[in-house]
Parts: sequence; structure tokens; C-alpha cells
Amino acid sequence: MGELNIELVSEADIPMMMAFWSDTPGLGVGNEEESLRDFIRRNPTTCLLAKSGDSIVSTVLGGFDGRRGYIYHLAVHPNYQRQGWGTKMLQEVILRLEELKAEKIHLFVFKDNQSAQAFYERQAWVKRHDIHVYSLNTRQ
Ligand SMILES: CC(C)(COP(=O)(O)OP(=O)(O)OC[C@H]1O[C@@H](n2cnc3c(N)ncnc32)[C@H](O)[C@@H]1OP(=O)(O)O)[C@@H](O)C(=O)NCCC(=O)NCCS
Repeated sequence: MGELNIELVSEADIPMMMAFWSDTPGLGVGNEEESLRDFIRRNPTTCLLAKSGDSIVSTVLGGFDGRRGYIYHLAVHPNYQRQGWGTKMLQEVILRLEELKAEKIHLFVFKDNQSAQAFYERQAWVKRHDIHVYSLNTRQ
């Protein structure tokens, strides 16, 4: 694994991150620029990216709501997968959420995303069988 620095996301990175995500299967799409800006403002120490030159290699968004931590949009560019980058980014965001006193962290994986499930299960994350996720769209 070569050296890539992990840096904090800034608002200026948003368009580039959105382009990176739209090319990455496995992520939920529909992140609007404005809500992403809010998310980064509210979670300034837990939104991370790694770049090679000017190109994004990996992203992860961590959020803490005062009770639980949440992880969104962990992604590694296909050319850099299976080199430990996903593990490294995940460890870094977990450390930062722990610093904020998040005692439990949740994340969502689409049922058809087998590679992400294999990845998280390898990292000792526990798949919950006792919970259903309910969602409500407030902008009908
Ligand atoms: C999931 C993802 C972030 C993993 O990143 P990565 O940098 O490839 O992961 P790592 O190299 O740290 O992998 C660690 C271990 O996880 C497991 N793993 C990772 N990808 C896997 C895959 N596609 N199939 C099976 N196991 C996998 C392996 O055990 C791997 O160890 P190994 O390479 O020594 O066998 C990456 O595949 C990705 O960006 N996927 C698309 C976006 C996505 O689905 N994100 C998750 C949203 S919930």
C-alpha cells in the first residue's frame, strides 16, 4: 500500500466527491450539495478523503448525533481496492467518532452489495437481525 494522506473534507471538495460517488456502484445516490455542506459543517472532524494527486482515491463520511455515530459513503476507487484502503479509512473514522464519545456506530449496506457485506463482516461489524430500518420521505 503506497502512501496517501488522509485529509479532512472541505466544502470545496463536494463537487469532486459527488462525481466520484456517482461513478461508484454500491452507494445510495441523491446526496444534494446543500445537505452535504450541512453535514460537513456539523461533522467537521469525521468527514475524510484520500487523494492521489488531484484525484479522489477514497472517501468516508462520519456523523455523530450526540447519541450514535453513523458512517456513510465509505468508498475506494476500483484501482485502489483490496489494498487495505477501506480498512484504513474505516479505522480512522471510527477513532474520530470514538473521540466524540460515540459508543455505538451504525451503517447501512444495500442487500445486493455483497462485497461491502464481506468487507464489514471481515472487520468484525455485526449484521443486525433484530432491527428493521424504517424510512420516511418528508419531501413528497
Ligand atoms: C467496500 C469497500 C469500501 C472496501 O474497500 P477496500 O479498500 O477494497 O477494502 P480492503 O482492501 O481494506 O479489504 C479488507 C478485507 O475486506 C474483504 N473484502 C473487501 N472487498 C471485498 C470483496 N469485493 N469481496 C470479498 N471480500 C472483500 C476482504 O476480506 C479484504 O481482505 P483481503 O483483500 O486481504 O482479502 C470497496 O469495495 C468499495 O469502495 N466498494 C464500493 C462502494 C461501497 O459499496 N461502499 C460501501 C457502502 S455501505
